[in-house]
Amino acid sequence: MKKNKTSFFCQHCGYMSPKWLGKCPSCNGWNCFAEELISDTDSGSRTEMKFDGKPLPIEDISVEEGKRTITGIAEIDRVLGGGIVGGSAILIGGEPGIGKSTLMLQMMHNLAEQGLKVLYVSGEESASQIKMRSGRIGAASKDLLVLVEISLEKILEQIKAVSPAIVVIDSIQTVYSGELMSAPGSVGQVREASSRLILFSKKYGIPVFLVGHVTKDGSIAGPKVLEHMVDTVLYFEGGSAHAYRIIRSIKNRFGPTNEIGVFEMQDKGLKEVPNPSTFFLAERPQNVAGSVVVPSLEGTRPILVEIQALVSATNLGMPRRTAIGVDHNRVSLLVAVLDKICGLHLSGSDIFINVAGGVRVEEPAVDLGVVAAMASSFLDKPIDARTVVLGEVGLAGEVRAISQMDVRIREAARLGFNRCLVPRTNAASLEKVAKMEVCKIVSLKELLENLF
Ligand code: TYD
Ligand code: MG
Repeated sequence: MKKNKTSFFCQHCGYMSPKWLGKCPSCNGWNCFAEELISDTDSGSRTEMKFDGKPLPIEDISVEEGKRTITGIAEIDRVLGGGIVGGSAILIGGEPGIGKSTLMLQMMHNLAEQGLKVLYVSGEESASQIKMRSGRIGAASKDLLVLVEISLEKILEQIKAVSPAIVVIDSIQTVYSGELMSAPGSVGQVREASSRLILFSKKYGIPVFLVGHVTKDGSIAGPKVLEHMVDTVLYFEGGSAHAYRIIRSIKNRFGPTNEIGVFEMQDKGLKEVPNPSTFFLAERPQNVAGSVVVPSLEGTRPILVEIQALVSATNLGMPRRTAIGVDHNRVSLLVAVLDKICGLHLSGSDIFINVAGGVRVEEPAVDLGVVAAMASSFLDKPIDARTVVLGEVGLAGEVRAISQMDVRIREAARLGFNRCLVPRTNAASLEKVAKMEVCKIVSLKELLENLF
């Protein structure tokens, strides 16, 4: 077999070197060399995909409204934007042990039950380990094929031979191509293996799921290097310490992003949580200072989350500020606004913010909730248990409008909340929501007056 030529390329500036270097002589970056194939020969499957390089008028391009395969797990289908699109490449990232393999096996089982031939390629577990897991989640079907293999060339060969409807590669970091010298899991290998699998899947119209471990120290090439290559990126959130797992779409060429699916890890695998708001609010304490509910919007779905704050006098020269589930910088900003504009002197207090249930809420719409929770804890006055608060807060203490207010408030009303504090500019869209007292506010001062 003819050996293909490889070289090492700086991932920052493209400098080429025949051997690995720690520091790039061109851009002075450290540890940025990855091995790549130099394809002067007709090697690999890059040339397999034929592009017909002619421009076409846009109106003549036929739309192949990609046939979607419904997995039967509603939470995954929603996150994918309504099922798996033919020929798409989907990356599933997450920390080790969070449940990626379990979810993939459950999904493959469901698809096999529909009569589709599916191929699960594992490079991490032996066939008998997979069998044991499948026994646990009740996955047994003759159409669910398992291949234990790490060689890219052999995997491609088997996919061609079997021609399955869906392929899962668990995980992409274990796959290696014999054409590169570097070890499995290195940036070069991960990228080469992914690009060949993705081209292959596009050519034959077979959707492929790539499972990738996110590592904390980044010593192994993480799924980050693949994000731009795939069509859809899903990440698992919520540490393995929590019972529930959230799968979120970070990028989706065929559907909305930031859509989330919620699962609970049980002894028989992952179980869908169809109504996450009730789930996240289940253990909410009643009439306790420092807790408030905010209808946050995740993708297209409103989800009610509880924001908790604990403000206590500090014993340290420099007070502690801890934020879990919300942006740390945003919290610092809101503390400063409360201090300066509302005269709540939080500068001598430790402040801890937590979003109950391990959810992350990134949008500014939760600002007002964070402020309300901090004020409630500081003043030691509970917020009414059936009130929701939401809006963005500006540096002058003004409360600003947010998107899709009516969807959020409808969800709150559905769950029995009867009063909402919202930005005045948003209030017009809420006239038709029944059984909801709408309290319009323009500033943080008004928020505090109306809350306590
Ligand atoms: P796994 O899918 O192996 O994680 P990953 O592939 O992301 O590394 O998940 C393993 C964890 O899930 C492990 O801690 C055991 C737990 N688990 C259950 O609690 N119930 C189950 O039915 C299964 C299969 C796993
Ligand atoms: Mg796994």
